[in-house]
Amino acid sequence: MNKMKGIIYDLDGVIVDTAQYHYLGWKKLADHIHVEFDEKKNEKLKGLSRRDSLLAMLGRVPDEEQIKKWCEMKNRFYLEFIRKLDVSVILPGAADFLETVRKNGSWKQALASSSRNARLILKKLGIERFFDAVVDGTEVERAKPDPRIFLKAALKLQLQPDQVVVVEDAESGIRAAQAAGMKTIGIGRPDLLSRANLVVKDLSCISLATLEGLFR
Ligand code: BG6
Ligand code: MG
Repeated sequence: MNKMKGIIYDLDGVIVDTAQYHYLGWKKLADHIHVEFDEKKNEKLKGLSRRDSLLAMLGRVPDEEQIKKWCEMKNRFYLEFIRKLDVSVILPGAADFLETVRKNGSWKQALASSSRNARLILKKLGIERFFDAVVDGTEVERAKPDPRIFLKAALKLQLQPDQVVVVEDAESGIRAAQAAGMKTIGIGRPDLLSRANLVVKDLSCISLATLEGLFR
């Protein structure tokens, strides 16, 4: 059996503080089309694909042309918000943790994000080098909470699901990882992420010993 283990990270809300810009993008669209939307409703959208987020926000399924138009509009707003993105959006502890794990040598690291903008963000921030594999929203048909995005990432790392821990800030992501048979660390509020094996504020709160502990 392969002794290596893997960490699969979500991007928005785990490594970078872009979840707020997704919210602002949806809020701007909601205001534009006169739909009520606030941060509480936004919590349910976290981790969902762009299309699924729109449908969840509307609570109905408009025709495909309308869906496409509103998804494009939200993405334009989002891209405008992240135009001047710099390393200050990297969340506390994330860069150090990625570096520590990279140097350790017994862990492989992947990114699995529902975002179609994930590679753009990695590139803008110069943090692609930390990851042995990347799966983004352009590569999976079904987004979180479907487990396929994490299974694909594990496959790219050449690891079995039970050798992997997933780090997620969204309930949909924790569900997806558990459905894939992986261990989970939630980033954020324990009351919202109670399904996870462990919940912490950010990556500065965990160490390699924490990860090892999950496999004992
Ligand atoms: C996820 C975010 O990472 O990506 C969601 O948590 C977002 O809020 C989703 O909707 C899709 O992102 P994008 O960039 O493809 O619109
Ligand atoms: Mg997220």
